[in-house]
Amino acid sequence: MNVFGIDIGGSGIKGAPVDTESGELVRERVRIKTPKPATPEAIVGTAVEVVREAGWEGPVGCGFPAVVKDGVVQTAANIDKAAIGFGLREALERVLDSPVSVVNDADAAGLAEMRWGAGREQDGVVLMLTLGTGIGTSLFVGGRLVPNTEFGHIEVRGKDAEHRAADSARKRDDLSWKEYAGRLDEYLHRVEFLLWPDLIVIGGGISKKSEKFFPHLTARTKVVPAEMHNDAGIAGAALAGIPEKAAVKTAE
Ligand code: BGC
Repeated sequence: MNVFGIDIGGSGIKGAPVDTESGELVRERVRIKTPKPATPEAIVGTAVEVVREAGWEGPVGCGFPAVVKDGVVQTAANIDKAAIGFGLREALERVLDSPVSVVNDADAAGLAEMRWGAGREQDGVVLMLTLGTGIGTSLFVGGRLVPNTEFGHIEVRGKDAEHRAADSARKRDDLSWKEYAGRLDEYLHRVEFLLWPDLIVIGGGISKKSEKFFPHLTARTKVVPAEMHNDAGIAGAALAGIPEKAAVKTAE
């Protein structure tokens, strides 16, 4: 079954139809710049443009960079505060006239990694981190997602962890890879102390450069780079569009 996956990010809104068996994008993705200001209404307008430009009609799954419960946005750490309380699912369904699911962006990426990427067949407790503008987290227990975890916001040295250890902090503070790895390592020790996962998957654009910072990491948990890279957000969002598939069972 094909579902159209949309990944809403700070700089771009991307989408493509996804084969939810293989996780492959069946057509080239469409990317349109995130509108500025990124009000919820403007985001809906651009997301709809992505779907229309791709010529898609049918079910849609959408990843959004905030806590999302029952299609309603609950938080706004790195996005326009007007999004809080916005019924994103309903707004998209109204315009597209198709069933839509909306999930947290890191949860979408985690679903894809667990099914087709670095976490496949992995039982136990798996934590996926997406390092980008913020730190997104998705937590899996026996292959099942615990939705909307926000471990990017635990406090480290009196600051929101994502402020110190997201990829945007590396760029903002002009850190060397070793310096950045030090900050990330401190964060990983904190989360492993709180959660004791069996595996940590590091995603986000930075995961393509894992050889630059992985050698400096000292966490006791096995840490691996994500395998799906750019496509994880889109593929996982599509997967979330089919409820029975989103329940990734590894031990089948
Ligand atoms: C948000 C999360 C989101 C993450 C990555 C954080 O600031 O609180 O909901 O998953 O950024 O976009």
